Amino acid sequence: KNPYYNELYRPQFHFTPDQNWMNDPNGLVYYKGEYHLFYQYNPKGNTWGNMSWGHAVSKDLLHWEHLDVAMKPDELGMIFSGSIVVDKHNTSGLFKKGSGGLVAIFTHAGDTQQQSIAYSEDNGITWNKYNGNPVIENPGIADFRDPKVFWHDDTNKWVMVIAAGKRIQLYSSQNLKNWEYMSEFGEGMGAQGGVWECPDLFEIPVDGNPNHTKWVLQVDLNPGAVAGGSGGQYFVGAFDGKTFKTEQKAEEINWVDYGKDFYAAQSWDNTQQRRIWMAWMNNWDYAEKIPTSPWRSAMTLPREVGLKTTEKGEILLTQKPIQEMKKIREKKHQLKNRNIQSDNIKFPKIDGQTQEIVAEFELGTADEFGFYARKGDEEFTKIGYDVKREELFVDRTKSGQANFSENFSGIYAAPLKAAGNKVKMHIFVDRSSVEVFGNDGERVLTNQIFPKPTSEGLEVYAKNGEVHLSSLNVYKLDSTWKN
Ligand code: FRU
Repeated sequence: KNPYYNELYRPQFHFTPDQNWMNDPNGLVYYKGEYHLFYQYNPKGNTWGNMSWGHAVSKDLLHWEHLDVAMKPDELGMIFSGSIVVDKHNTSGLFKKGSGGLVAIFTHAGDTQQQSIAYSEDNGITWNKYNGNPVIENPGIADFRDPKVFWHDDTNKWVMVIAAGKRIQLYSSQNLKNWEYMSEFGEGMGAQGGVWECPDLFEIPVDGNPNHTKWVLQVDLNPGAVAGGSGGQYFVGAFDGKTFKTEQKAEEINWVDYGKDFYAAQSWDNTQQRRIWMAWMNNWDYAEKIPTSPWRSAMTLPREVGLKTTEKGEILLTQKPIQEMKKIREKKHQLKNRNIQSDNIKFPKIDGQTQEIVAEFELGTADEFGFYARKGDEEFTKIGYDVKREELFVDRTKSGQANFSENFSGIYAAPLKAAGNKVKMHIFVDRSSVEVFGNDGERVLTNQIFPKPTSEGLEVYAKNGEVHLSSLNVYKLDSTWKN
């Protein structure tokens, strides 16, 4: 039995390190039946420092096994964010003849930020840093980091996307050791309020059609995000092996998540038809101050990423909780075809600390409706839809402990049009977070909350009129950390 995982605020079905500080997910790769999760980690404390790569593995992306720290700082500096690829055919020559293995590409942060590689001959357990590091020296840009590498089939080479100031750069390589600069993207594009970090670039189907694909460039910025502080934006476009191009107007901004706690998302390499990503569920505004111990920070749920054409013909990024989540559903509470008036309907039998809520509403006369989650003792987290503003929102101003930072308390909203006259909410409530997916993942809001353990009521509400609740399923979710 794990001695940890029952402390105040300890997430029950989100990934957290046993103890100490964590930030970005790194080196996400599926290999030999296991999903690897490496992460920015301080082995020596509960705030940022001594940056190393922590490590965990999972067979289902839900139940994680903690492994030893994979890489620690060395004479070239700390080990910042990066990625891992499967070098199946030993293009790097780092493996024994006829074999392959995993290669990590990461930022060495010392006097300057440079890119280095390491390889593992034992399926990711131990790592050997390449003796020719760095493989890309700093080109004179102070913020030059977070390489994400993938194999580009069409042009038969490795491609790296990397953050460089307020832009991203693309490099290519035949062997992961020698890299050639290809192009740059981002000047004056999208949100520019802070330095760009942790880019990811991948091709996915539009509307699930494998014959119609587009490229998604996701890039984070700090500060300057939609909810304040750090957050992610994306661009949809094309990649020809050399440059990334988008038809998006320079001033247009597409936010990945409208909550305050979704940063540095990275997608798993080598997952075949599914594109799954996960992010750090925190914000640099207050990351080191959140009231948790002996660990600090959780990851978001893994989400399947897609593209969807809207009625207006725009292409929107969608995020959905992965299928596997259904495995941890326990008790179910169901309601169907109810008109919700201003009075609240309570669910006293459902333990409200860990819940999945799946709801479908039909608009009525009410100008606002939704849920009070983690309710009790004058605390609640409100998850609602504002009909006039056409916004899905999360209000955490009464969610519990917030005095650790001026930047924590707030209401966060995402534009969301009703589909016909329907609004869907898919909500995951954990001991210290709420993730809200609107209309099949068209919009997402991810926020941390720190309520008392006893605040576990759930209510559905309508304001100034009525709303029709077509269906509601509330599940208690099992802990993924029992064994
Ligand atoms: C993003 C980030 C990365 C960097 C890492 C350092 O949160 O600042 O750009 O590689 O954290 O821990």
